[in-house]
Amino acid sequence: MKSLLGLFMVLFAGNVMANDCQLEIEADDMMKFNQTSLSVSAASCPKVTVVLKHVGKLPAASMGHNWVLTKTADLQPVATAGMGAGLDKNYLPEGDARVLASTKVIGGGETTETTVDVAALEVGGDYSFFCSFPGHWAIMKGGFSVTE
Ligand code: CO
Repeated sequence: MKSLLGLFMVLFAGNVMANDCQLEIEADDMMKFNQTSLSVSAASCPKVTVVLKHVGKLPAASMGHNWVLTKTADLQPVATAGMGAGLDKNYLPEGDARVLASTKVIGGGETTETTVDVAALEVGGDYSFFCSFPGHWAIMKGGFSVTE
């Protein structure tokens, strides 16, 4: 009886930990993401959690990073519009519908996350992620693809 319960606990824990609808990406003090493309399957993940980890040491004020998702065509306009918004607004224009998902800006040693409503995106659509900290988007960006 006791071992059965133990087995059940192991299976249950394994089930909870197996989260395929989660993407992880790291950013560092060299102004870089550790991945240049991310992909999610719309059929298996109607929603996906994107976890951003800042593995550097510098504070958000000088080397802040966030993770922002837009259509690729909207990346530069949104990044430019967000430049003047300030750190407290995470360098993003407020209430901008072009921003499909975004985390707050974090500093070294911090972790943050956001949820992408994959079901609302277009399979095969042209999406990109980037960091909206002023001057970062030119380097800190990548493709985000939605497969079936
Ligand atoms: Co950045």
